[in-house]
Amino acid sequence: MGIAGAPKLGDRSAWEARIAQGANVLYEHSIKGYTGTKGMMPAKGGNPALSDAKVQAAVDYMVENSR
Ligand code: HEM
Repeated sequence: MGIAGAPKLGDRSAWEARIAQGANVLYEHSIKGYTGTKGMMPAKGGNPALSDAKVQAAVDYMVENSR
């Protein structure tokens, strides 16, 4: 939804350079969290109960719907 500077699902221009980093960088950033130029991505979206596999599946979904 673009909360707090997050890239929106389906926003190709917001995702292009992110996707180009490769899936492993996207997985690491979403599982461990990171701070970029747009804001702070919380580890596991703020839900530590999520498994790594579930977070990775969510990233795959976001990428597939944003390229
Ligand atoms: C499980 C849920 C979530 C997943 C799978 C997810 C995934 C991602 C991915 C893949 C990126 C791009 C990483 C990169 O470019 O290297 C990202 C960026 C970001 N996310 Fe999330 N996210 C989630 C939830 C959230 C939530 C709840 C927030 C805000 C409260 C958030 C805020 C952000 C922000 C601000 C960025 C951009 C940081 C920057 O590059 O400056 N995300 N997220």
